[in-house]
Amino acid sequence: MKKTELRREAERLYRKHCVSGKGAGHAHGQAGDIIRELEIAQIELKLQNEELRQYQARIEEEMARYHDLYDFAPVAYFTFDRKGMITEANRAAAEMLGIGARQLIGTPFLLYVVPPHRKLFHAHQHEIFRKSGRQRIELNLLNKDGTEFEAVMESRLEETSDRAQSRFRSVVTDISEYKALSRALQESNQLLEEKVSLRTAELLRSNAAMAEEIEAKKKAERGLKDLAAKLHEVRERERLELSREMHDDFGQDMVSIKMEASWICGHMDGDTSVLVRKAKSIVKNTDKCIQKIKRIASSLRPPVLDDCGIAAAIEWQCREFEKRTGIRCFFINNTEKMALRGDAGINIFRIFQESLTNIARHAEATEVKTSLQVRDGKIILEVRDNGKGIGDDEAAHPGALGILGMKERAGLIGGGIEITRPPAGGTLVRFTLSPPRNLMGSSERQS
Ligand SMILES: Nc1ncnc2c1ncn2[C@@H]1O[C@H](COP(=O)(O)OP(=O)(O)O)[C@@H](O)[C@H]1O
Ligand SMILES: [Mg+2]
Repeated sequence: MKKTELRREAERLYRKHCVSGKGAGHAHGQAGDIIRELEIAQIELKLQNEELRQYQARIEEEMARYHDLYDFAPVAYFTFDRKGMITEANRAAAEMLGIGARQLIGTPFLLYVVPPHRKLFHAHQHEIFRKSGRQRIELNLLNKDGTEFEAVMESRLEETSDRAQSRFRSVVTDISEYKALSRALQESNQLLEEKVSLRTAELLRSNAAMAEEIEAKKKAERGLKDLAAKLHEVRERERLELSREMHDDFGQDMVSIKMEASWICGHMDGDTSVLVRKAKSIVKNTDKCIQKIKRIASSLRPPVLDDCGIAAAIEWQCREFEKRTGIRCFFINNTEKMALRGDAGINIFRIFQESLTNIARHAEATEVKTSLQVRDGKIILEVRDNGKGIGDDEAAHPGALGILGMKERAGLIGGGIEITRPPAGGTLVRFTLSPPRNLMGSSERQS
C-alpha cells in the first residue's frame, strides 16, 4: 500500500474506533490533537507491521518453492565458488555422484573428474570467468564406487559486487547412454557403409563381368554371322563352278558322244542290225543326259541370272515353278534399267526361290503374284500367295531354318525381310534393300 493510502486507512479506522466510543479522541484542545495524531500514527504502524508480516510470509513461501524446485529438479545442479568447490548441490546431483548432498558441500569438484580430464575442467573454469554467457564442456566423471561415466557440463557465472565472492552455477547431465547409443549407431552406420561399399564393388565386378560376357557374345554372334556369310559365299561359288563345269565340260563331252554315236549310225549298213539299234539308243540316252545336265546346271546356278540379270532370272524361275507345281505364277517388273553388282543378285534370287519352295510345301495356294520394283530408291521384292497364310509365330520359330536363311541372305547385302499375313489372306514375303551406290548400275547385267 502507498504511504498516503496507508494514512487514509489509519484515519478511517481511527474514526470508526471513536464512533464505537473506544478511542481517546473526545479530548479537546492541543493535547487532544496530539493524542489523536499519536493514535492515528499507532494504527498506521500496526497496518505497516501487518503488511510487512505478509511480505515476509510470501518471501518464505517463495524461498521454499525455490528450494523445492532446485532440490527436486530432474537435472543435476551445482553451485561452485571461484576455486571450484561445491557450495550447493541438488538431489539429482547427489544421486548422480552417489554421495549425499550435504557431504558434497565444501568438496572440490575435481575429486569427481577422471584424472585425464582435470585439465579440461580447469580450462572450463577459466573460460567461465573470462567470457560471458554459457560455457559447455564434455568430460568423464567418477561416482562414489569409482564407476566412470560421460557427462556434459553447462555453466554460467553468477556476478556479485565482490569479485572474490563470485561463483558459478552448472547443470551436469549424464550422457553415457546417449553416447553409447550414438557409438552403436556410428558402428552400425560404418558396418552398413562397409556392406554397401562391398556390395557396390561386387555389383561393379559382376557388371564388368556381364559387360565382358555380352561383348564376348556379341563377338561370337558377329563371328557366326561372318561364318554364315562365308558359307553362303563358298556354296554359291561352288555351285557356280559346278554348274559351269557340268554345262561347259560335261555337257560338251556328252555332245561329242552323241555326235560320234550318230556318225556310227550313219556309217552302218542295214538299219535292222543290232549294232545300229544300240547306236541309236546311245544317241537317245545321250540326248536325255544332255537335258538332265542342263536342268541340274540351271538349278545349281541359272545362267540367265548371270547373263540377263535378276528380273529375267525371276521370270524364268516363275515359269519353271508353274511347270513343276501347276501353281500359277504372275510377275510384274519395273526395274528395266536396274543392274545389281556383287552378290546382291544371287542372294535376292535365292530368297525368291525359298519363298516359292515354302509356297509349294506349306501354303496350299493356287497362285503367286511377284513384283520387283524400285521405289524411293529402294529395291522391293514382294512374293504374295493366296494360300492359308503363315502362322503367328512360325516366321520367328527357332526351327524355321529356311526363313532364317532368307533373313541371313538379306542381311548379307544390307537388306531386310518381313513376312506377314495381309488382310486379303495368304502370305506376303517382302524383301527391302536400300542399296548403296556400288550395288546398282545402269544395266541389268551383273558385273
Ligand atoms: N507361304 C507360306 N504359307 C504358309 N505357311 C508358311 C509359308 N512359308 C512358311 N510357312 C510356315 O513357316 C514355317 C517355317 O518355314 P521355313 O523356315 O522355310 O522352314 P521349312 O520350310 O523347312 O518348314 C513352315 O514350316 C511353315 O509352317
Ligand atoms: Mg522352307
